[in-house]
Amino acid sequence: MSRISHSGSERYDLVARLLHWLIVVLVAVQFVLGWTMPDVHRDTQPVDLIAWHLATGAALVAAMVARVLWRLTHRPPPTDLPPLMDTASRATHFLLYAALIAVPLLGWANASSRGWAVKLFGALPLPALSPTGSSIGHAMGDVHSALAWVLLALIGMHIGAALFHRFVRKDNVLQRITW
Ligand code: HEM
Ligand code: HEM
Repeated sequence: MSRISHSGSERYDLVARLLHWLIVVLVAVQFVLGWTMPDVHRDTQPVDLIAWHLATGAALVAAMVARVLWRLTHRPPPTDLPPLMDTASRATHFLLYAALIAVPLLGWANASSRGWAVKLFGALPLPALSPTGSSIGHAMGDVHSALAWVLLALIGMHIGAALFHRFVRKDNVLQRITW
């Protein structure tokens, strides 16, 4: 049987692949900005690198909304992985989605609690997720920072798995999300 016609070698559709790689870039930028921007204190103003973190974050939220809607209406191609590997990959993907939703929402709520406007493409203001001055919104900043590490660990596992499929198992999993 030709490998091309084999179900395990089918690709995600174009929109799913484009959104995957767009979000990879946005998440990478968010980590670099989050780590290099100044520490945020009571009187910190949302300028320079912090403003970029908010702007990239708003774009990431929009991209995730599109991705989740697309994912709920378009199934990924079937795999031919052994059951345990299939379950592990589904579980990791689910946790990645959960972290990709929770981390931005917590950062956004923290920004709102500081009275910082979050605007999409610098123009469209997004609603505040928590009232200015709210202590829970402030606490969400700490959870945001901690969960960002959990997201990073999941990404590390995910990339490790992709490399395992490509170089150890030598199957077609990596091709499913590339061109
Ligand atoms: C996956 C997406 C994101 C990642 C990986 C990320 C990562 C980070 C990191 C690493 C920090 C610094 C933590 C520290 O050193 O204490 C940070 C802080 C922060 N981020 Fe994000 N971020 C993301 C999305 C967002 C979004 C969407 C917003 C708002 C719209 C946002 C708002 C903030 C704010 C306000 C802080 C300061 C929190 C504080 O210190 O209290 N982030 N982020
Ligand atoms: C910020 C970094 C990344 C995030 C957050 C991420 C997230 C995800 C998510 C959530 C899925 C599941 C897609 C779905 O079923 O709807 C996925 C699939 C996939 N990703 Fe990533 N990804 C990242 C980086 C990478 C990198 C660098 C590679 C390659 C080295 C990669 C390779 C893959 C592959 C091969 C799949 C398809 C797996 C399959 O269907 O069995 N990802 N990714």
